Amino acid sequence: MIAADRPVLKVEGLARHFVTKDFFGREVHRVRAVDGVSFSVAPGETLGLVGESGSGKSTTGRLILRLDDPTAGQVHFEGQEITGLGKGQLKAMRRRMQVVFQDPYSSLNPRMRVGEAVAEPLRAHRLFKTAAERRERVAQLFQRVGLDPRFAERLPHQFSGGQRQRVGIARAIAVEPKLIVADEPITALDVSIQAQIVNLFMDLQQEMGVAYLFIAHDLAMVRFLCHRVAVMLRGRIVEMASTEQLFADARHPYTQALISAMPIPDPDRELARQRIFYEAVTPPQEAQLQEVSPGHWVLSS
Ligand SMILES: Nc1ncnc2c1ncn2[C@@H]1O[C@H](COP(=O)(O)OP(=O)(O)OP(=O)(O)O)[C@@H](O)[C@H]1O
Ligand SMILES: [Mg+2]
Repeated sequence: MIAADRPVLKVEGLARHFVTKDFFGREVHRVRAVDGVSFSVAPGETLGLVGESGSGKSTTGRLILRLDDPTAGQVHFEGQEITGLGKGQLKAMRRRMQVVFQDPYSSLNPRMRVGEAVAEPLRAHRLFKTAAERRERVAQLFQRVGLDPRFAERLPHQFSGGQRQRVGIARAIAVEPKLIVADEPITALDVSIQAQIVNLFMDLQQEMGVAYLFIAHDLAMVRFLCHRVAVMLRGRIVEMASTEQLFADARHPYTQALISAMPIPDPDRELARQRIFYEAVTPPQEAQLQEVSPGHWVLSS
């Protein structure tokens, strides 16, 4: 069991509203992309964040990474409140919190050799004294993620999607972070490659004890990979539980609908599968998460 007492990440009342104003500065439209989200992630744990498109998953990730600033709420990373940190402190924090994006192609510089891309964070954080030591470390990292170290001289376009994502992962683990925010890291890959990359994530976690916030669409993958799952709907978490609890005993109608939409790899049972439909409604502002059994939280309606 994973100790939840000293979380690596703790998010409290996090909100990000996007406001459109007219010529006179009057508010004409407000998107509550994230609207009062709280959760924590324990060291070495994987928390899955799922929900329909536009439910606020990526925005939540960006707020945690400090790529965006919240309208309200706090992010505590390793016990430190990070939403107010200045540049220098942010840099120190970034060494311990890394990101893997959905599309490794757009997150890698097309003109930079991939070995350089992996070495970049090592250089930025001055982790090695000499270029030779850095190269040695890059070669190790390549091997660790299943790439031939000789590929370090290549450019991103010379790789397949799966290989590029391995480069992205090597770059993320180079500085031995405590948390990786992974925003749909397998969604863009061929199905045959997805399982390999998921296995790589799991192996690295075993070895390094790194925690993941894993943003995903594919519930089957989430079920396989995540210790706990938080379900988002219109900027709110509507249900959060251990993976077993969530799949055995989903309480919120939106979670039930998501689970009922999962295909079953058995033709007889697939034929008999009953879909539950749920007309998504924005949860009422005053709704609160309630603990229905230990560790299982459901948004009241
Ligand atoms: N910079 C922005 N300006 C205005 N609205 C934004 C901005 N970024 C996100 N939004 C809106 O915030 C909401 C949440 O977006 P977000 O990208 O977090 O959703 P998501 O759950 O990651 O969706 P997807 O599964 O499609 O990646 C959406 O309605 C989106 O249009
Ligand atoms: Mg997204």
